Amino acid sequence: MKSPQTPTLSQWDDPLRQAVPAANRSLFMQHGYAPELHQAQVPDVCHALELVQNLPPVNPNDKRIVNGNTDINQLAPFKYPWAWEFFLNGNKNHWTPLDINMAQDVHDYHHKLTTEEKHVYENVLAYLTTSDILAMRNIGLAVMEKMSAPELQIYQARQVYEEALHTWTYQHCIETIGLDQSEIYNRYRVVPAIYGKIRMANQRLERVMRADFDLRNRDNLEEFAMSYLFFAAVFEGCWFYNGFNPIFALQRRGLMKGTGEQLQYILRDEALHSAFGMKVVEQLLIEEKLVLDPKRVQEMWDESEAAEHAYAKYILADPILGYSADDHIGQFHFVANRRSRQMKMPEPFPGAKERLDWLSEQASLRKEKNFFETRVTEYQTGVSLSW
Ligand SMILES: [Fe+2]
Ligand SMILES: [Fe+2]
Repeated sequence: MKSPQTPTLSQWDDPLRQAVPAANRSLFMQHGYAPELHQAQVPDVCHALELVQNLPPVNPNDKRIVNGNTDINQLAPFKYPWAWEFFLNGNKNHWTPLDINMAQDVHDYHHKLTTEEKHVYENVLAYLTTSDILAMRNIGLAVMEKMSAPELQIYQARQVYEEALHTWTYQHCIETIGLDQSEIYNRYRVVPAIYGKIRMANQRLERVMRADFDLRNRDNLEEFAMSYLFFAAVFEGCWFYNGFNPIFALQRRGLMKGTGEQLQYILRDEALHSAFGMKVVEQLLIEEKLVLDPKRVQEMWDESEAAEHAYAKYILADPILGYSADDHIGQFHFVANRRSRQMKMPEPFPGAKERLDWLSEQASLRKEKNFFETRVTEYQTGVSLSW
């Protein structure tokens, strides 16, 4: 037996070059490895290669949302081509908060906003920034690792990045305007109406975040589906979606336009997050032959409505011009019904009408020519969001 060779400088990052003797060179040559190798590590490596040669190809029909038993490292063939489409569409949305001019916002905040409007602006940021960290952690730590098809995880990896980008955006606004950072970031811990939403989210998400949460257990599987439904339909699909509206109401009046534009970019991402999450839940329920208890789903909506109600009453205790707590809650009901229809579930708030008929035009980035006129780069390269 030869003694191990000392690796040359060019071999230091290629362990296989140091691991196979002459007898096994032909096998390794087939796989493109040069055979300057050491015998001691050979049997395991060769055995692994022989096993690989005997593995059947991945059958996409064996993929599952969770508890799949195919090779998670092989992207295609796809079982969920729509998930890949979400990834491609997400990648059409490129921006950073530094791209948007905030100079007028600094002036507006310090010289034009009323006390009530400042109260709205600050608390919306305080709520959103805490929520987006929670969103990033939930997708990255609880949801993504439980998915067993790579095309799902790849979009979620993009989502984790986007949630971090959103957190940067709020921080950029807070910093640029010159708000007291520690006070804004701590606000959810001292204002019950903000804490109520964060607490509800933590309660509904934290158990499934545990690494030992076993999805082969049917009760756990149902709880996971409920948690993801809450996250996609309520947390992202309503609370975030609706949460930007008070700022859009300011933007509509020509105030805090930079912040409004930042939130338009975030909203475009969130629309995809919410739609993707609901699609995953829908597919999960079909695959696992699960039916969520309608009573539990209605309870989820009622609980989230109560939290949203308290939040709206706090941030809009004194209404601002063009926007009130009733507008906020009414719009929440309207969006909640739409999310439920998307999930083919009964509307939780029958009869709710759209309160903000100006919103889809105001929040849409389709008015790109106006919004981008001071900018040199076209950031949106094709995705269209339906309202
Ligand atoms: Fe986000
Ligand atoms: Fe999100």
